[in-house]
Amino acid sequence: MTAISCKDLCKTFHQGDATITGLDHVSIEIESGEFVCLSGPSGSGKTTLLNAMGGLDTPDSGEITLAGQPVHSLSKSALAEMRLHNIGFVFQAYNLVPVLSASENIEFVMQVQGVDKKERAKRVSETLEEVGLAGLGDRLPAQLSGGQQQRVAVARAIACSPELVLADEPTANLDSKTADQLMALFEQLNETRKVTFVIATHDQRVMAHCKRLVRLEDGKIVSDELQ
Ligand SMILES: Nc1ncnc2c1ncn2[C@@H]1O[C@H](COP(=O)(O)OP(=O)(O)OP(=O)(O)O)[C@@H](O)[C@H]1O
Ligand SMILES: [Mg+2]
Repeated sequence: MTAISCKDLCKTFHQGDATITGLDHVSIEIESGEFVCLSGPSGSGKTTLLNAMGGLDTPDSGEITLAGQPVHSLSKSALAEMRLHNIGFVFQAYNLVPVLSASENIEFVMQVQGVDKKERAKRVSETLEEVGLAGLGDRLPAQLSGGQQQRVAVARAIACSPELVLADEPTANLDSKTADQLMALFEQLNETRKVTFVIATHDQRVMAHCKRLVRLEDGKIVSDELQ
């Protein structure tokens, strides 16, 4: 099954008189269970493409299909439902809620999904363990290092068992050992639960783990290769 299909996406940004290219006729198909990296220089359109794929931002033209459903045909609430239940996001800025503890940040999405309390507690402790943060669940984001906050964001994204994870620079603030552990976790989820991963990254360590490497330059896909 096709997890994501993008057809001829274009997106420009306007800043004063300047027109900035975000995406320039991008087409890509990603099958369920793939492990894809988006690479390319800063400003090449990786985040813009991920945001479009997740329905967080609307391209100017082109068509996106998520799990067989054209995104433009979904109502706002149907799109929100799909994001909530099927997609785990790891943002470039971690977007943790500062007044909630690490555990509460992870639990929050499941609460909105209607997962019952006992199950939430179980998954919070499992995912904290998986990302190497066992015992730190009670800390506020400000009491954690950048890398630890990043791992809370990863735990939050995977706690609700999404079919698709869209991750933007998930290893940017991690030391090599933690980055390797995170990639091992992603690989395990990909292999055992068939979770589809699309990861934007500059990190060679991450690219080494992916099965398909897509390179963007100036908003265009310039190469797309199986590893
Ligand atoms: N909200 C915005 N307003 C204006 N320009 C934007 C906006 N978002 C992105 N851009 C521009 O669009 C282009 C693509 O940006 P994007 O964030 O997708 O790049 P990226 O590949 O993710 O870069 P990085 O590796 O630095 O994260 C860049 O030139 C950027 O400056
Ligand atoms: Mg980016």
